[in-house]
Amino acid sequence: MKSSTKMKSTTKSKTSKEQFEPRILALCCNWCSYAGADLAGTSRLQMPPNVRIIRVNCTGRIDPTFILDALYQGADGVLISGCHPGDCHYTTGNLKMRARFALLQNLLEEAGVDPRRIHLQWASAAEGDVFADGIRGMVERIKKLGPSPMRRGGK
Ligand code: FES
Repeated sequence: MKSSTKMKSTTKSKTSKEQFEPRILALCCNWCSYAGADLAGTSRLQMPPNVRIIRVNCTGRIDPTFILDALYQGADGVLISGCHPGDCHYTTGNLKMRARFALLQNLLEEAGVDPRRIHLQWASAAEGDVFADGIRGMVERIKKLGPSPMRRGGK
């Protein structure tokens, strides 16, 4: 009887872990990655449905507090996708984002949050496959990490 109860409990916890579907926010530059995301969709590339995309004019516009706030508000991971270095429409916005990203990773690590919860990638408008790969990789990674400890109230 006891072993049956224990087995049910193990099965239940395994099931809930397996059922975890991460919530991912993708912040995409209007000029390249957003179009890349669109291309991935029109090319019918397979992508998990865990991602909500917000279009920004340039990754340089992304304040690090946007990312922290997203994690705090319930995102399990945040993907930032922008123009390749040298292709930014605002010249150095993506380079500024890259510098902020490194600082943000350090900040998360210091706070005890796995820095792999955030990811920065470059994907042009012609790279729908790169965008889709980035999304798939992010979802796989966050599934392994589990729900974000930063979620407000653990929800
Ligand atoms: S315009 Fe795309 S990252 Fe700056």
